[in-house]
Amino acid sequence: DDAHKSENVGIIGSGLIGRSFAMLFAAAGYRPCIYDIKESQLDDALADTRKQLADLEKHGLLRGSLSAAEQHERISTTNDLAECVSDVFYIQECVYEREELKRSVWEKVDPMVGENTILASSASAIVPSKLSEGLVHRNNFIVVHPTNPPFYAPLVEIIPAPWTEAGIVQKVKALMTELGQSPVVLKKEIEGFVLNRIQYSIIGEYMRLLKEGIMSVEDLDKVMTDGLGVRYAFNGPLMTAYLNAEGFYEYGEKYRDMIFGIQKSFGEPIKMEGDILKQMQDEITRVVPMDAIHERRAKRDLRLTALSKLKKEMDRK
Ligand code: NAI
Repeated sequence: DDAHKSENVGIIGSGLIGRSFAMLFAAAGYRPCIYDIKESQLDDALADTRKQLADLEKHGLLRGSLSAAEQHERISTTNDLAECVSDVFYIQECVYEREELKRSVWEKVDPMVGENTILASSASAIVPSKLSEGLVHRNNFIVVHPTNPPFYAPLVEIIPAPWTEAGIVQKVKALMTELGQSPVVLKKEIEGFVLNRIQYSIIGEYMRLLKEGIMSVEDLDKVMTDGLGVRYAFNGPLMTAYLNAEGFYEYGEKYRDMIFGIQKSFGEPIKMEGDILKQMQDEITRVVPMDAIHERRAKRDLRLTALSKLKKEMDRK
């Protein structure tokens, strides 16, 4: 029946992001079917999503009204691409970030789908026009770029190609909101999209400050974790500026010359290689040795869980 069919979602690629999307869709009551070229990956994906959902349940962070076990039951896997993408209203492709690979996957999928299927790619940096140019169904194509880990950092960037129908943008935005994500829409495509452009501008300046010998790696990270990051967890840089003055005109008047002067001193980008790379590795391993990375990841997830809970509570107020 149609009602049942419309619940089906195809997920191509069962890595980190494919698994996250499968869980997000299952939590909202959809039936995601995951496809991968590696059979063993599919088994891992089922075991891993079972564990992740159970952990979310334990921490009170499970979304939707179904139990972890019920959500997990909704996730299926297949090694047959056609089975994954037929009778679905939405496809999320999550294969490696390689343009040729993604294009070849979409060329295979294109003739297998109906007129109304939404074709979404998790691409982190490849613009949608490059991925969808030659597709018959390119008007239904869009990039839906999640933030890792998607359960704790709900932002998704929605990037239409020049030929993507406006209706698709609206539908995807509504769908992501329904899943409990926080969608933002790029009005047109740009290299790196927005999140990574901002992230790389920060890392770029970090490398410059290291190269100039201004600060240690450990202290540089603290500038974010105890300074800017804390500030920006609830108010973005623009809202922060707005709240720091009597409106933007006053803010501009007060600070524009200082901001412009500093920005002019930023200079050419620095490549992450050679001495800079060595310095970052040497200094950070003194804070967290490589054999303690696993432990530190667990700590990161616990902290992100706590922050995510707090944000949810505060947003309700
Ligand atoms: P991953 O390496 O964890 O998983 C990729 C999966 O794709 C693997 O299971 C692999 O077997 C499968 N695969 C490879 N070729 C395939 C094919 N032809 N058909 C079906 N499956 C195939 O990668 P991850 O991290 O999940 O990334 C997937 C996409 O999501 C990439 O485009 C990445 O840039 C993007 N992304 C990643 C984020 C992250 O933090 N890891 C954040 C946001 C987006």
